[in-house]
Amino acid sequence: MELLKEAIRKRGSVLSSGVLKVDQFLNHQVDTNLMSAIGEEFARLFADEQVTKVVTIESSGIAPSFMCAHSLQVPLIFARKKKSVTMDKENVYSSRVYSFTKKEYSEVTVSKDWLCAGDRVLIIDDFLANGQAATGLTQIVEEAGAAVAGIGIVIEKSFQDGRALLEGKGYRIESLARISSLEGNKVQFVEESAQFAYNKS
Ligand code: G4P
Repeated sequence: MELLKEAIRKRGSVLSSGVLKVDQFLNHQVDTNLMSAIGEEFARLFADEQVTKVVTIESSGIAPSFMCAHSLQVPLIFARKKKSVTMDKENVYSSRVYSFTKKEYSEVTVSKDWLCAGDRVLIIDDFLANGQAATGLTQIVEEAGAAVAGIGIVIEKSFQDGRALLEGKGYRIESLARISSLEGNKVQFVEESAQFAYNKS
């Protein structure tokens, strides 16, 4: 998605060879026009999947997934990382998710009230790194007897293992921007690396 790639190039910054900062439009301040375009693009990509619900994980997944769910005209459910006082802890689907980035586990929960057998669920998240968060969400969806209709990612770090892990389990993944490298303080997209390799050969 060109608009997103342009935002990453012009408004993002590389913090290290493994971490991209996009607080200007996605992870802290949110560019609502860009989120709207992202939501429409996910809705277009998954239009044939008979999606009945969108599921994400708080907090940065909420903005893009909200716009996607709105475009598809289906509800959005965000999995919680912290227990809510309004949630009956006996009535939840939960999954333990390890973050390689943060080096910690979190217990991710969704109330049984909002996911049903028969739902076709589109999982949306802001980043795909090692795929642990997305895997946790697929486990919750499947525990509910629902089906994973696909996984939509705003920014995929293709040099990490997430895509391979999820594709290995048979899920359809659509990433709007795929980054092949952050080496040398420079964002390289997958298509550019492929073009570079082609030009060299
Ligand atoms: P994984 O789920 O794909 O395995 O990723 P990982 O555990 O490594 O990611 C942990 C958190 O760090 C997630 O946010 C994820 O979105 C974020 N993250 C991973 N790599 C990057 C990166 O290069 N840049 C930025 N900006 N974020 C990254 P989180 O802890 O759930 O945060 P939030 O959603 O509450 O903001």
